[in-house]
Amino acid sequence: MAEAAQLPEGEHCAPPSFPYPYVQLDPEKAKLDGYAGYGKSKCSYGAFEAVIGQLREKIGYPYTHVPTQVLGWGGTGGGGWGTLCGALIGAATAINYTMPKSDADKVVSELFGWYCDHPFPEFMPEAGKALEYEGPIEKSVAKSPLCHVSVSVWCDASGLKAESKARSERCARVTADVAAKTVELLNQFHSKNFKAVYKNEVVDDCMICHGKGHSLENTRGMMDCEQCHTDVDPNNLVDHIKKSWDLL
Ligand code: HEC
Ligand code: HEC
Repeated sequence: MAEAAQLPEGEHCAPPSFPYPYVQLDPEKAKLDGYAGYGKSKCSYGAFEAVIGQLREKIGYPYTHVPTQVLGWGGTGGGGWGTLCGALIGAATAINYTMPKSDADKVVSELFGWYCDHPFPEFMPEAGKALEYEGPIEKSVAKSPLCHVSVSVWCDASGLKAESKARSERCARVTADVAAKTVELLNQFHSKNFKAVYKNEVVDDCMICHGKGHSLENTRGMMDCEQCHTDVDPNNLVDHIKKSWDLL
């Protein structure tokens, strides 16, 4: 059996109370740190370290005890699977350090909604300072929080390859944008200026029947239904229901 790690003399071992404290952070610094973090250990670590690193500098303990390397797994949407965008995994985890889950869910949802609709990357490193690829990078709108969709929509928009240096550079810049947006939302939340504004009308329309408490209640979530269920026309739901019943 592995030996328990020994605490240095004088360190207290009571766990810090949760959630951890927060002070206003600098979104511009988060951008630069997110970008640099991507260079060290990819998107998920980059976004996480951009937020936790500033809190570590400004507050110290308990953030000095957060090993940000644990978010390394989130790169490529989690162990190489292309599920949730890794920058969102890191950012959502950072958000959850600073507030109870009931609040964190609202802020995370707002971040994911922003990610779906935002044309990025916006961040542009200084000339000569790019990680993998100099110059402007094609912007795209993912309409999804999934790594798979985000990357492939960008490949389509740019005509470039998913394993290219340009794609990696694009994701480094997306990490910078996500880190800055996260800090912006955290600053708003912790100064009582946060307001959830994200809405997806297609999802609302579908959930009238498929969502919680409604006649079918056979799905959950807020991802854009239309993006995958392309055979359902949200403007002709009567036809959808007719067709669906014909299938039975
Ligand atoms: C007014 C109610 C209603 C609304 C609104 C509605 N559906 Fe359905 N949907 C149904 C019914 C009824 C069925 C068939 C029942 C079953 O398969 O259990 C169905 C079946 C489905 C199915 C499985 C069969 C198929 O066609 O592939 C999918 C997927 C689906 N709906 C997606 C959607 C999406 C996406 C939206 C929004 C754009 C939507 N539905 C809106 C009632 C609705
Ligand atoms: C990322 C892609 C994706 C998104 C986004 C998505 N779905 Fe699905 N959905 C699937 C897949 C894949 C299945 C399982 C395969 C199938 O039955 O089509 C499925 C299954 C379903 C089914 C059961 C289908 C059946 O055969 O009876 C319903 C109903 C459904 N989805 C509704 C929705 C609604 C409503 C939304 C929006 C809130 C949504 N889906 C968003 C991919 C997606």
